[in-house]
Amino acid sequence: MLLRRFRTLCDVVLDTTRKVARLEAASYSAMSPIERHIALQIASRKDGVFQPSYDAWRVTRINKLLALYGVEWFAGKRVIELGCGHADIGAFLAELGADVLCVDGREENITFAKLKHRKVGRIDYLVADLDGIFPALGRCDLLVHFGLLYHLRDVDAHLAQCWELADEIVLETVVCDSLDPNKIVYLDRDVPVNSRGLHGVQNRPSPFYVERLATAAGYEVERCFTGDLNSGTFLYDWPHKDNGDLGGFSHRRMWRLHRSSGAAILSQDPNLRVAAE
Ligand SMILES: C[S@@+](CC[C@H](N)C(=O)[O-])C[C@H]1O[C@@H](n2cnc3c(N)ncnc32)[C@H](O)[C@@H]1O
Repeated sequence: MLLRRFRTLCDVVLDTTRKVARLEAASYSAMSPIERHIALQIASRKDGVFQPSYDAWRVTRINKLLALYGVEWFAGKRVIELGCGHADIGAFLAELGADVLCVDGREENITFAKLKHRKVGRIDYLVADLDGIFPALGRCDLLVHFGLLYHLRDVDAHLAQCWELADEIVLETVVCDSLDPNKIVYLDRDVPVNSRGLHGVQNRPSPFYVERLATAAGYEVERCFTGDLNSGTFLYDWPHKDNGDLGGFSHRRMWRLHRSSGAAILSQDPNLRVAAE
């Protein structure tokens, strides 16, 4: 009796396994060579921007962009995405009708992005090192700046160039836990992974460091320090302890920076400080 039940169970398992294998084989052979290449890379790689945790993190940040601007806003706008990785966020905005330029310092990332989003129109790509003087990218309606700032050697020089690109910026970065608007820590060793910096460094500015630079450049600073952005160990709504903690990659902040045209000229006061929370 027991043996018969066991055999029946084995038959069911085998039958199901065969059905799944047949289905997999059918969908596998229905794929084009490019689709298969993309699917195999996504399935087999876990390094850097291939880490599965990027998926959920991207969803929360795209939702924030939609909450800030609305679905309709993007059509006809020029958007630049810096440090785009596989350009999934840029491609999403291009599908909403924006003309998007996705920039990354790694040829490998841009090559994969081009394949992955080959059916998305209105999207262009550029391989460029954004640490130091970077190529002219032209003005845009929105600069998307996610997950890049903390990979750079010179935050001030980089942001000074970003201010030239747009009056509307959504900026996201890892920070240190400090209320000091002049505090930034540079860490001089980093691993050569496709999601990290090009020059083997990282940095952790205080949130107030970033806000000071943005305010001095004429932007109104809207904080998006909200729990809806939290994803895995990446947190946006953490309270300050002001203990200088670098927090790995978990202490994150996001801002919407907005300035009315011409405001940049009016607000060069270096004493401008954004009040601590
Ligand atoms: C943490 S990933 C973020 C990817 C994407 N922006 C996101 O938030 O999901 C950082 C990206 O910035 C790129 N990057 C790092 N340093 C760079 C540099 N100096 N110039 C251009 N891109 C850089 C990396 O190649 C990588 O694709």
